[in-house]
Amino acid sequence: MMDLRGLLFFLTLLCSFGNKAWGCEFHGGGNGLAAIDFTSLINDNIAARSLTYGEPSSSNKRTVLTNVRVFDGHVLHSPRTVVIDGDRIGHPDHAQAHDDVFDAKGMTLLPGLIDAHVHPDSVSHLVELTRFGVTTAANAFCPDPKLCASLRDHPGLTSLLTASFIATSPDSAHAKMIPPQLTSLLIHNTSQIPSFIAQQVADGADFIKVIGSAPQPGLSQEEQTQLVRASHKAGKQVVLHTSSYSAVLEGLVAGADQIHHSTLDVPVDDRLIAMFKQEKTILCPTLTMMRNIIDQIAPPNRSFAPAIETVRRLHKAGVPIIVGTDSNMQALAPANVKFGSSIHDELDNLVEAGFSPIEALIAATALPARLFGLKDRGVIREEMRADLLLVKGDPTEDIAAARDIVRVWVGGVPFES
Ligand SMILES: *[C@@H]1O[C@H](CO)[C@@H](O)[C@H](O)[C@H]1NC(C)=O
Ligand SMILES: *[C@@H]1O[C@H](CO)[C@@H](O)[C@H](O)[C@H]1NC(C)=O
Ligand SMILES: [Zn+2]
Repeated sequence: MMDLRGLLFFLTLLCSFGNKAWGCEFHGGGNGLAAIDFTSLINDNIAARSLTYGEPSSSNKRTVLTNVRVFDGHVLHSPRTVVIDGDRIGHPDHAQAHDDVFDAKGMTLLPGLIDAHVHPDSVSHLVELTRFGVTTAANAFCPDPKLCASLRDHPGLTSLLTASFIATSPDSAHAKMIPPQLTSLLIHNTSQIPSFIAQQVADGADFIKVIGSAPQPGLSQEEQTQLVRASHKAGKQVVLHTSSYSAVLEGLVAGADQIHHSTLDVPVDDRLIAMFKQEKTILCPTLTMMRNIIDQIAPPNRSFAPAIETVRRLHKAGVPIIVGTDSNMQALAPANVKFGSSIHDELDNLVEAGFSPIEALIAATALPARLFGLKDRGVIREEMRADLLLVKGDPTEDIAAARDIVRVWVGGVPFES
């Protein structure tokens, strides 16, 4: 049996350029690759559901924050009172004398942050996400529906959306790293697409993950287009993975909803910008990962400059951009990215790319909630889920203040580690 931690996340950018020097041949092109057994990891995750990370406020005792500035997911409000009533945000007038009152003068309350691209495999990763204020995240690859399910429903910890298995073709670099028990999921031709999508939806996928490829071998343009069409028919969005100009172009032609990662070869130009706008496609650039890849691996003919320039240009053109980190602790990933703390690095990256601090915060709260169809979170408003982040200072002025965490609540449960 192979080391699970080393194996799970072959989907990262390691082999996007088919470069041997990066270890793309590590698994010997499928020869002798052992089946992976997820059982013990799944059992550990399920057992962790009995652990608690904080006590929710009781039904007759609310938590009342007074004098707290509120960034509601869209704009900053002057200091006011916010009530946490069970797992929801309550009405300030409903505060009562015996409630727990906390004077948050000088502090700012934000919606819990949303990381649109993470690769957790154990509950410890959710703990780290929660600690740093990430209350919702999108699990960007699902190698086993039971494993993904075992990471959900951990009260008091980050809640996850779950991707499908990766849609990719047998000739792609990603396919070469898929263990034998999963190769039946590879897309050989368009006739397999309807059953692939139906299976992924039945297995609990919230969105479909497609691996873009050009100029490397992989799914054809027609296959990508049909994958998007079938996903939409099933009511699911498509997140397309790529880090090259030509693969972004194919993803846009296919009509993907979200492009994840940013271009490491050349930045998007007017043609692609126009297509982003026309297709209403959004970008999740994972600049933290892009930077780590360049710093740690220095692949030939790739650099960080095009990745951040793509973000600068799309933002300037009004294309929606959301925060995602590609957090992973995989031995074989091209670079590791820490869970939780990295979302603050990504906020910094967006500010470096020309976002105001408030625009960066919107990209980590209200905007991803809307784009993923999460109607109960991402904004601070009565009746919304009490997923909250309380920090010192004002991150809408200085984004670094978002790191100065006083408390995190997930569904009204204050995080205590
Ligand atoms: C599509 O690929 C599958 C799996 O390899 C194969 O069984 C089937 O015959 C192919 N269909 C067409 C139309 O090529
Ligand atoms: C880098 O790009 C140059 C110019 O396009 C090309 O000649 C060279 O072969 C590339 N090097 C690698 C290692 O891909
Ligand atoms: Zn990823």
